[in-house]
Amino acid sequence: MDGIEAIRQMPSGSVHLFLTDIPYGDGYVSHHLQAGPSDPILNDTPEESIALAEQFFAEAWRVVVPWGVLATTGPYGTQERLERLVAFGRAMAAAGWHRSYDLAGADDASDGIWDKVVPGMGNRFEGPRYQAEAILVGTRCDKGWTWTPEDRRQGNVIRVTRPNGGRSKDQGDRHQSEKPTGLGSALASLYAYPGEVVVDPFAGGGSLVLGALMAGRVAIGFELLQENVDRANARIDAWRESQ
Ligand SMILES: C[S@@+](CC[C@H](N)C(=O)[O-])C[C@H]1O[C@@H](n2cnc3c(N)ncnc32)[C@H](O)[C@@H]1O
Repeated sequence: MDGIEAIRQMPSGSVHLFLTDIPYGDGYVSHHLQAGPSDPILNDTPEESIALAEQFFAEAWRVVVPWGVLATTGPYGTQERLERLVAFGRAMAAAGWHRSYDLAGADDASDGIWDKVVPGMGNRFEGPRYQAEAILVGTRCDKGWTWTPEDRRQGNVIRVTRPNGGRSKDQGDRHQSEKPTGLGSALASLYAYPGEVVVDPFAGGGSLVLGALMAGRVAIGFELLQENVDRANARIDAWRESQ
């Protein structure tokens, strides 16, 4: 199902945390996979991703509870990606979300970093770089700026090893941009309390939904591609059976 359409159908104040890995405009095609039906990622050109993010930030605002949070991975590491990060940050602010850098007027900063732990070679133009993605975090506070409550404050860097270690040539049945479930558990634990509702509208292979479930939150995902829905459901079922 279309994630934006799903949010439109949700009652106001029904979600505590939107936790997602939105297509953020890299036009990502896996270097490790044969091109297949899910490669490249849908809505992942720079223009498509910014349009999708603008809709998502605006629609999610109505649905989240006061003091609810929206957290998404975001572009990081090159000048072109930084420009998209700025566009994402401005779209979040325009929709009413308060980010930790708003107060300082720094809309080119990400609120957190997912450090993938694996070393990165970089390339001949950018030089060596460690592998990371931005994490953008907005809080819904209705009365102007207020600091995020102490027990929800985020550390700047979350270190969780990437699922395939950055090396696998055969990812088998993985989503081509699979995130570690540990990232989902870490972010769900930071921004939602046990038993609260976490929604991923662009769920892919379901890693963040599964991570939130593992952390004891109630989690729901939406995804356009049926093959990804099947993949996510199979992983969630396997985890439930193992409990
Ligand atoms: C970066 S991937 C998410 C990967 C996921 N976090 C995982 O670990 O498997 C983004 C996903 O959003 C999906 N998508 C793109 N546009 C969408 C939309 N409008 N509604 C729902 N899903 C969408 C794509 O098919 C893709 O699977």
